[in-house]
Order: sequence, then structure tokens, then C-alpha cells
Amino acid sequence: MENKKYYITTPIYYPSANFHIGHCYTTVIADSIARYKKQNGYDVYFLTGSDEHGLKIQRKAEALGITPKEYVDKIIEDAKDLWSSLGIEYDRFIRTTDPDHVEVVQKIFKKLYDKGDIYKGEYKGLYCTPCESFWTESQLVDGKCPDCGRDVEEAREEAYFFRLSKYQDRLVEYIETHPEFIQPVSRKNEMINNFIKPGLEDLCVSRTTFNWGIPVSFDPKHVIYVWIDALSNYISALGYLTEDDSKFKKYWPADLHIVGKEIVRFHTIIWPILLMALDLPLPKQVFGHGWLVINGGKISKSLGNYKDPREYIATYSKDAIRYYLLREVPFGSDGTFSEDLLVSRYNTDLANTVGNLVNRTLSMLTKYFDGVIVKSDVKTEFDDSLISLVESTKVKVDEYMDKLEIPEALDSIFEIFRRSNKYIDETTPWILAKEENKDKLKTVLYNLIESIRIGAILLLPFIPDTANEILRQINTKNITLDTITFGSLETDIHINDFKPIFMRVEKDEK
Ligand code: MSP
Repeated sequence: MENKKYYITTPIYYPSANFHIGHCYTTVIADSIARYKKQNGYDVYFLTGSDEHGLKIQRKAEALGITPKEYVDKIIEDAKDLWSSLGIEYDRFIRTTDPDHVEVVQKIFKKLYDKGDIYKGEYKGLYCTPCESFWTESQLVDGKCPDCGRDVEEAREEAYFFRLSKYQDRLVEYIETHPEFIQPVSRKNEMINNFIKPGLEDLCVSRTTFNWGIPVSFDPKHVIYVWIDALSNYISALGYLTEDDSKFKKYWPADLHIVGKEIVRFHTIIWPILLMALDLPLPKQVFGHGWLVINGGKISKSLGNYKDPREYIATYSKDAIRYYLLREVPFGSDGTFSEDLLVSRYNTDLANTVGNLVNRTLSMLTKYFDGVIVKSDVKTEFDDSLISLVESTKVKVDEYMDKLEIPEALDSIFEIFRRSNKYIDETTPWILAKEENKDKLKTVLYNLIESIRIGAILLLPFIPDTANEILRQINTKNITLDTITFGSLETDIHINDFKPIFMRVEKDEK
């Protein structure tokens, strides 16, 4: 029997500042994929979290006169509130300061050291003494420290290194024999040609110049440097190397790591090599999505070019933001985040296409049949085309979702609503009512509500509040995928109270 489990992750974000709309982008997408897989019968584990160690966070806390843990605790409380306001249903929010994670990372480090894949050496770099930071030549700005602008000097530091070079050939072979591993394909070529083929250098994996990190258990003046700590979250979260590793046994390897394009490199070079060194299977896919930009540039705290995402949620609703993030940008490409685009998506798709359709239809049912869903055997010449479109949608959604073409999947669901609006124009129910053509009118309204019901079921993973509200208004009990055969809608039920789900927003109102 096919193993119907599905393990999906987001990156663990740095809590150096509150999360912004770019972090929401990745997380809403992962949440929708997780919900979609669940709806399709998979046993899903959805992991997100925070990457809390490192000099940058240590410094921020020092500047405020608090401990790094106090600093990140506040940000994480805020992040969890943000995720709940967006309806993110993760199975675990892992923090790299969680004691179980710390212990597993120390065990992993020791295991690799015992095996000879981690060794002690010397790190050479350009050092800024006031900042206590090492820099590479290319990071310098005009030959000076990029943080404080002062002179740097060559320095050496004892450090542990991870033997990436040993695994280079195995990695290339793996990537070439598993074309689905790095997606989109353009990123795969970039990894091979720009990073792997020129030769992998061993990676420095410990530091002695700061202490906000996980200490090396057998040499505690060293803290484990970012990537080994961070990447291990994907297995530590499941209990790898702990007493209860049942989740690890059940869910590993990951089916999908969703990451932004700038960290594909770490996830497709360091991470698979770390797993090879641990004799563990590799994740099935790493998908590197593009960036959301604002006014053509990076979303950045220091530029102050963004609002707290909760402000948009308060103005437009949770689902309006989810929908925008899922629908606007082809997954894999860069795209723009702007409030104008958000308003225009909201008005066109949510208020006009679906909101209006539901409201018009339920109003007609109330007017003509006192809100009771009825059926008749009389057909109209437009039924078959509507029904066949509705019945073919699930297959299309699945095809798109298999390729992670999420905007296209959503658009094919919206095709149901657009087609239904056209069906109203074609069948002109108000004329049927005038002509006392009650049987035809019953058919038209039944077909409309049935199309709406099926569309709403398909929307559940993406905009769950909206989909649930539509299903509540219809008052149907048939809300699962096994009821999407056209004609499964109950008859002789009375619809619930209803009001427009989305009110149009005028540009100057916002
Ligand atoms: N801590 C590392 C990740 C470790 S994963 C083992 C990190 N953190 S981060 O806070 O910088 O988050 C980067 C990720 O946040 C991106 O890869 C992406 O998923 C998301 N995004 C942050 N800004 C974004 C945009 N402007 N647009 C799209 N995604 C963005 O890197």
C-alpha cells in the first residue's frame, strides 16, 4: 500500500525582528499545501519555527540590555500571534533554543566528529576587533568592516570544519539522477554550475568569538555555527536520536522543503551532505520560491518599507491576504507586494466573482423558494457545459498542485465561479420566475448552489474561512472531497442566514 504520509517544512526564520509579509508568503503557501494534502487523505506533518542563535541576535539583545533568550521570546510570541491571525495550522513550531533540539544538534555534531567528517582546524579570515566578526574579502565595503566601517585585519581562529568536499561526487550524482530534487529546474542548474562543480570547500561549523549558540559538547568553548544548528531542525523536530523517534520513523524523509531562493544553496548542498554523512535518506524535494518585493526592492526593516501584516488582515480579512499571497505571483518567480494590487485582486476575484455569486444565488433562492433547496427533472440547454466544467476541476487542481503551480490551481477553482456567473446570464432566472417556469428555475438554482458547494470544498485548503462560511450559508453537511460528485447536494434543506462575504473596497477608502 502506498505510504500516504506527507512531511512539509518552511525555513526556520531568524527572530532578529518581527516577521514580515515575505515570511507570511512562504508560510501561507506551506500551510495551504499541508491542508490540501490533508484534505486528500495524507497524514501530514507541517513544521515551521525559528532560528534563534548567532551573533546578530546576541548583539541586538545586548543593545537593549536583555538576554538573547528574552529578546527572542518576545519576537516568537508575536510570530505565533501572526501565524494564528493567518490561520497557520502547523504541527510544531520548533525553536532552535528548545532543549530537545539543542541535545540532538550536539549528538549530531559528536556523531560526525567521531566519524571523521568533522575535524578541528583553523579558520582564517578578515577580523574586525570591535565587532568581533570575521568577514570574507567580498563582504568588505571599501576594504572596511561592513558593519562599523573600521579596519579589519587578518586573523586566525581555532574552528571545527565539516568535510563537504568528501561528498561532492555523491551529491552531483544524486542531483543528476533525481531531477525532481531541486525545483524549479533553473535553480538546479545554478547550484551545479555555480557552486558544486567549481569545487566544495570544507565548511567552518563552529565559532569561539561569541557564545549565543549551542556549545560543542566535548569542547564547549566552541558554539556550533549557524547551518548545522539550523538545518538539523528538520530532523530534531521529529525526535531523531531521541528516545521517542516514532515521528522521525514515520515522516522522514521530508516530502517538501519550501525555501526562498537565497537559501536553496544551503538546502541542496550542505543539508544533503549532512544527511549523507548521517546515513539518512535525502528529502524528496527542495523548492526555492522567488521573492516578494516592494517598489522593486527588498522588504526591509531598516528601510521601513512595510507594515505589520496584521494591519492588512484587519482591513481586508485573513483570507484576502492568504488569497493574494497564493494567487498573485507564479510560484518560483519574484513578484510584487503592493496594497493596490491586493485591493484589485480582492475586488475582482473575492468580492465580484465569488462573493457576488454566492450572494445573488442565495438571494434568488430566498426570493423564489423561501430559501429551500429544491430540485426538478427539467433541464436547461446550459446545464451540461456547467456540470462538465465543475466535474473536471478537481483533476485540474490536482495536476497543478502536483507541480506546485498554486496560482493556476486557484484559478481553475475560480473558473467554476466565473462559469456559474455566466450560467446566470445564460439562464436568466428572473425571466424564468416571471414566466412561472418553476421547474426550470429549480434546476438553475440547484445547479448554481451545487457548483458553489463544490467550488467551496476545493477552496478549503487555500481560504478556509471563506470556504467554510460559504458551506455554512448553504447549510450543507456534504463538505468533504468524497462528496464532490455533481448532484450530491442535499435537497429540502433550508439555507442559513447569509450576507455578502466580501464587500468591495473602493481605492480611496483604504
Ligand atoms: N534562518 C534562516 C533559514 C534557516 S532554514 C534551516 C533564514 N532566515 S530568514 O529569517 O532570513 O528567512 C528567510 C526566508 O524567509 C526566505 O527563505 C523565505 O522563505 C522567507 N522570506 C523572507 N523574505 C522574503 C521575501 N521578501 N519574499 C519571499 N520570501 C521571503 O534565512
